[in-house]
Amino acid sequence: MTKEELKKELGSITDPSAEKTLAETNGIKHIDISDDVVTLIIGLEKTDDIYVKSIKRDLARKIKLDLGFKGVKAEFQLNKLSDSILSREVKYIGIASGKGGVGKSTVTANLAYALKRLGKKVGIIDADIYGSSIPTLLDMPIKTPRSTKDEKIIPFNVDDIEVISTAFFLPQNKPLMWRGPMLGKMLNHFFYDVLWDDEIEYILVDLPPGTGDVAMDIQKLIPACEMIIVTTPHPSASYIAVKAGFAAKELKHELLGVVENMTQLVHKGETLKIFGEGGGEEVANKLDTELLAQIEIGQPEDHITIFDAKEEIGVSYLGLANKVLKANK
Ligand SMILES: Nc1ncnc2c1ncn2[C@@H]1O[C@H](COP(=O)(O)OP(=O)(O)OP(=O)(O)O)[C@@H](O)[C@H]1O
Ligand SMILES: [Mg+2]
Repeated sequence: MTKEELKKELGSITDPSAEKTLAETNGIKHIDISDDVVTLIIGLEKTDDIYVKSIKRDLARKIKLDLGFKGVKAEFQLNKLSDSILSREVKYIGIASGKGGVGKSTVTANLAYALKRLGKKVGIIDADIYGSSIPTLLDMPIKTPRSTKDEKIIPFNVDDIEVISTAFFLPQNKPLMWRGPMLGKMLNHFFYDVLWDDEIEYILVDLPPGTGDVAMDIQKLIPACEMIIVTTPHPSASYIAVKAGFAAKELKHELLGVVENMTQLVHKGETLKIFGEGGGEEVANKLDTELLAQIEIGQPEDHITIFDAKEEIGVSYLGLANKVLKANK
């Protein structure tokens, strides 16, 4: 039985606190099968003991008695998102790296355009509170977004891609140490209070570099977030990228794969491996995932960041976008 089939089966189970099925509340946040044991994260409208006990019993009956699995491990959390965007089929993809400066934001921006070129409606959350750069990379003014009467934030739109960034909310020139405590709160806003276009199918999240706390915050907000790990070809970068990947795995984020950025420079017919070799493949192997793309060193001809679909690097990003779509079919 595949995860998808199992998800369908469990969708008919009722969240007793909402009196709606898990399919209706989009309450199945994570599902995994290994060694005949099913691991679940279930979002409930309310997590009082009485509700948890009741649904635990129903899940065990279905999974063990009806479907014949050996065991079930389930965690329960508040599903306060049932009427927000998360109950629609929007895919969140976090772009992470261990080290800074490896090209996360560049990859995020170009992947957004590539997905758009393949007909998808895309949003970007720039969650890099320490080094927010999406507005700069996309040549957008930094100003406070408008909000609706019920205090929903209206994202900015560039080339039909919707963007929300920490930079829009932070007073500039504040010391970095001041920012940490704001991040959790701001992420909360980004996930609950943004009025995205109804048609949005993919939201890319440009994460701060590192392996720790932000990934954890995101795990709490969107357990079903998928992750792409960006690294350069150099072994020192790949070592930290592996750590970031393991952190994501530990938090049960689904790893889509690895992007190796700055793979090589092709200059006057010569190929130069300026930043070493093999890092992307090594990270993918160690994390038991796929090397999704290798992006060469280069600058776009007509934009500060975004490659045209006809440029060679633009084609590499289309390849990456195609793999993302395939993984989400
Ligand atoms: N493939 C590439 N070829 C040439 N330059 C690149 C490439 N990828 C990224 N860069 C450049 O490297 C710098 C760092 O890239 P970027 O800001 O995307 O990295 P980052 O991982 O988001 O960094 P930070 O940790 O600061 O957020 C930028 O100046 C960007 O233009
Ligand atoms: Mg960045």
